[in-house]
Amino acid sequence: MVNLVTTFKHVLISLLYLCAHNMLHVMAQWSKGGSTRFYDFKVQMLEVNKLCNTRNIVTINQKYPGPVVYAQEDDRVIVKLTNESPYNATIHWHGVRQMLSCWSDGPSYITQCPVQPGQTFTYEFTLTSQKGTLFWHAHFSWLRATVYGALIIYPKTGVPYPFKQPYEEHIVILGEYWLQDLVQLEKTVMASGTSGPVADAYTINGHPGPKYNCSANDVYKIDVLPGKTYMLRLIGALLNMESFFSIANHKLTIVEADGEYTKPFTTDRVMLGPGHTLNVLVMADQKIGRYSMAMGPYMFDDNLAVKTIMDGLRSLEVGNVPKEIDTNLFFTIGINVNKCGSKTPKQNCQGVHGGVMAASMNNNSFIKPDIPILQAYYDHIKGHYTEDFPGSPLKFYDFVNGAPNSPPNNTGSTYGTRTKVLEYGSRVQLILQDTGTLSTENHPIHLHGYSFYVIGYGSGNYNPQTASFNLVDPPYMNTIGVPVGGWAAIRFVADNPGVWAMHCHLEIHFDWGLSVALIVKNGKGPMETLPHPPPDMPHC
Ligand code: C2O
Repeated sequence: MVNLVTTFKHVLISLLYLCAHNMLHVMAQWSKGGSTRFYDFKVQMLEVNKLCNTRNIVTINQKYPGPVVYAQEDDRVIVKLTNESPYNATIHWHGVRQMLSCWSDGPSYITQCPVQPGQTFTYEFTLTSQKGTLFWHAHFSWLRATVYGALIIYPKTGVPYPFKQPYEEHIVILGEYWLQDLVQLEKTVMASGTSGPVADAYTINGHPGPKYNCSANDVYKIDVLPGKTYMLRLIGALLNMESFFSIANHKLTIVEADGEYTKPFTTDRVMLGPGHTLNVLVMADQKIGRYSMAMGPYMFDDNLAVKTIMDGLRSLEVGNVPKEIDTNLFFTIGINVNKCGSKTPKQNCQGVHGGVMAASMNNNSFIKPDIPILQAYYDHIKGHYTEDFPGSPLKFYDFVNGAPNSPPNNTGSTYGTRTKVLEYGSRVQLILQDTGTLSTENHPIHLHGYSFYVIGYGSGNYNPQTASFNLVDPPYMNTIGVPVGGWAAIRFVADNPGVWAMHCHLEIHFDWGLSVALIVKNGKGPMETLPHPPPDMPHC
């Protein structure tokens, strides 16, 4: 085990107060199941003062983090989004399976046009067989840096958690804060051909914590009582960083990952990539005092710690893992440097060796189309995307150690709005393989519209002869951090028709093209067919 003290760099501290006095029970109230929940989301600007700077940030209902959406398993959720900001906006319901409701998924230019200033759009979906901690976030430009909030789905009435009822529950959202305008920042970064600045602060529930300037009181605190057990709903609403989370002198017991129960697994710290959610139990078993809650970036020497956490993740129940496979896919993921094509290379080609940074799947960098792929697909509008995304790399080689590495000469990718078409009901196995082009790194790959079983992972190149799979109780997730210079194997049944983004949840990699759209065809009859679009679908 890697030593916590030497490798875990605390960049931020919030406080857990263990105090003797009694306090109010923080418990959300919710009514009986099977109902419809209505929410009004207004995209509004909010003036905030952080890090000795006043700026206007984009929010929902002037809340930062945004309002919590509470629901119960099998509830219908209806959210009316009204855009009162000067920016385009959409909301993605991260981890919601959106069965037959792809139109409400939210990624701009994949399932919908952005909701323009002054416009409205109503999202409608059912949380079929889903419970746990998920979250929602903007899916346009880099707005999700401030436009995010928790989506809490309680079990059906009368159904307890599969562990002792915690005394209290708290939502703990890890985020990143910038002093710049995020839409402008994205444009500047993309025009430069290189990566952008790191965040000005890492935040817990929007608070930078006492290590930052002017933030002595901008701290998130939880008061706890001795001997009680607390459940923290941890949410990785990060933009461009993966982060550890720990509490001084306290252990964390993971009981849920990505909205699915896990076998309890106790650890000193957890790692959350952007897009991950974890429920952990914390026992207030230390002497009365103050204990830091801290996050710290995932550095290169922490691979073993991450593997230990991954090894500990097992579904609570025996899973419904597809045993037979009819669609075998193999996607490489990695970073590229393309040759400069600009007449002003000083401005636009600031990537490695005067190139332009890119990222890819099967060496294709995804280009966002000008109309949503879902609309083009549904209305048979030609010319906005192609169906030629390869099911496996065009060339097999030693992806990790023998990767081309003389940028920008042999590190290029192709560009295109390529999609992969899947038959309804196909049982898919997908190997995600990190490549060493430029450098290996952990990529949090998120699939919209599905959860998938993570049946295996390892370091180096995937080798079907030696890979061992867990087909019994693998974790059922919506985002998988593919190990640095390694691979992960996932399985799912393509039973939800629509157009589903699959991409790296590090925002800069997504922008650089580490993305693909999976088109899942309709099956037979209305229960296997994507319905008509809602009447208020925004126009581009
Ligand atoms: Cu949470 Cu397409 O993302």
